[in-house]
Amino acid sequence: MNLNDKPTTLVQTIGHTPMIPLDKFFHNSPVRVFAKVESYNPGHSMKDRVARHIIEEAEKDGRLKPGATIVETTSGNTGYSIAMLCALKGYRCILAVNSKCAAEKLQVLRAMGAEVHVCPANVPPTHPESYYSTGARLAKENPGSIYVNQYFNPKNSESYYLSAGPEIWEQTEGKITHFFACSGTGGTVSGIGRYLKEKNPNIEVIGVDAVGSILKKYKETGIIDPNELQPYRMEGVGKNMIPSATDFSVIDRFVKVNDYESALVARLLPQIEGLMCGYSSGSALSAVIKEVFKLPKNAVPVVLLPDHGERYMSKIFDDKWMESQQWLNDVTPEVKAQLNYLKAEYLVFRSVETIK
Ligand SMILES: Cc1ncc(COP(=O)(O)O)c(C=O)c1O
Repeated sequence: MNLNDKPTTLVQTIGHTPMIPLDKFFHNSPVRVFAKVESYNPGHSMKDRVARHIIEEAEKDGRLKPGATIVETTSGNTGYSIAMLCALKGYRCILAVNSKCAAEKLQVLRAMGAEVHVCPANVPPTHPESYYSTGARLAKENPGSIYVNQYFNPKNSESYYLSAGPEIWEQTEGKITHFFACSGTGGTVSGIGRYLKEKNPNIEVIGVDAVGSILKKYKETGIIDPNELQPYRMEGVGKNMIPSATDFSVIDRFVKVNDYESALVARLLPQIEGLMCGYSSGSALSAVIKEVFKLPKNAVPVVLLPDHGERYMSKIFDDKWMESQQWLNDVTPEVKAQLNYLKAEYLVFRSVETIK
């Protein structure tokens, strides 16, 4: 590099993440599975794309003045991306985070200079202490601030439509046939899904939902069913309300995954592929595992892996935490069946071979 060249800024390193075939992980699958690995972003998740787009658009239309405050409700990753860009661009960052958020995620947000408010996870979104209500209140209390509001901001999915969608299309040379992504705000699956469907309406877009969330049933029936709701451990997968950032019309269907299988699969990925990704990457891969044997021989499935695993060291990568969930000992018949299914279907699970 010529030192007199204009230097690359951190912002320019967002996106253009690699597409890696998971050939070892899916060694007995009938088709190759390609992973879009979003931990390669400078903020270690795909949320860098959202933060960059929303902040740059607000700068362009004059809503964001120098030194202003940016407020957001976030389960961690969006917060990190916003805090990173606030540090770089000189904005103040206030984040309302839910209490499910892993401890190291909170530490890292504070280390990036963000002001963090931890709110209870298991209250309805309309509750005054929910992280949505807290975010909205903090935005009101800080005049001149912008509220990113990722669950209801159309710029969320637009950021993927403009970046990750075209990247995936080009990286597969237009050959992609199935796209799998976790749905939380729905920005990823909707933005990329819309781009891919415009290129080729035959591409199937599959959202990954959590057992305990309402999205799949809502897609299938139009009903918001409170009976579907139950607390769960996964972060960023599924929802207890319908975010307007989700465009259900570009999602063909949802596949549900549970806490346990997602955690096991996330733990296996680094052991098998040397690729350290987060909890929801285990969820996305669990959905692929359920579907891959049903795909036609010429299918080219792509799965998006949202973030890096180092943010989950005190959760799924901690044996004590796994034990505390009753997942590595005291295995219930239901979980045993799940384990046998997983083993039989595709892999020998080295990390759980000790389970009796
Ligand atoms: C780790 C993780 N996985 C998946 C998602 C879901 O992505 P999206 O909000 O674009 O639906 C999120 C979003 O919060 C996340 O933080």
